Amino acid sequence: MKERFEVKDGYWLMGFQYEITGILYSLGQIPRCKKAMLGRLKPGEKMLIAGAGHGVEAVEAARRGIHVTSVDISKTMISFMQKKIDRANLSTPITIINDNILNVEFPGQYDMVMANYFLNVFPREKMLQILTHLTTFVKPGGYFVIGDFTLPKEGGALYKAFQTAYWYAAAFIYWATADNAIHPIYDYPELLESLGFEIAEIRHFPMLGIRSHWSVLGKKKA
Ligand SMILES: C[S@@+](CC[C@H](N)C(=O)[O-])C[C@H]1O[C@@H](n2cnc3c(N)ncnc32)[C@H](O)[C@@H]1O
Repeated sequence: MKERFEVKDGYWLMGFQYEITGILYSLGQIPRCKKAMLGRLKPGEKMLIAGAGHGVEAVEAARRGIHVTSVDISKTMISFMQKKIDRANLSTPITIINDNILNVEFPGQYDMVMANYFLNVFPREKMLQILTHLTTFVKPGGYFVIGDFTLPKEGGALYKAFQTAYWYAAAFIYWATADNAIHPIYDYPELLESLGFEIAEIRHFPMLGIRSHWSVLGKKKA
């Protein structure tokens, strides 16, 4: 029998403030980062969002006529997304699945899979399991998008220290309140390449002039 992964609402306490805190903490860059690559899809194409949270990018995609499936383990987060959907009065509906992403299988079905600020909640081994699983959902020639904290790779020591501290401050808060993992920032371009994607674009969303958020677009080799 196939293993069922547990479904636990880790955001029951902090879910209500998640979006507004992210906007403030990034001076507005996080929502821009999450929507950055939507222009790659045409109306009618299919996108899956893993760990969508309040779903700002899901609503924006549906507004553009994209068929969105959103998967989130947290009923709390889904309730906030639902409020946003109700207010948006969309003509393209969004399919919402309340489950652990590892219990969901959609091999080769999506033009784009998006994982914004999602993979960073897991320790490395689990993150690799989930990322590998999610890449199977993408059609050949389709896209994988990861919006997240920027890997501190360029610039001087002070610059990198700011990027690192900025990530660890956020990680610490969600470790304490939502049991998320604390770990060094993951190298998503390298990981996507190792899983059969070409890096088609990287867009930066700097905060106070420092590269702190990025959206990485991988294209699955056909
Ligand atoms: C850090 S939040 C990011 C939310 C959203 N993507 C954003 O950028 O605002 C992580 C989200 O992933 C969800 N999540 C955590 N583990 C999950 C899992 N195994 N399957 C599906 N969703 C999960 C949480 O409930 C939460 O909504």
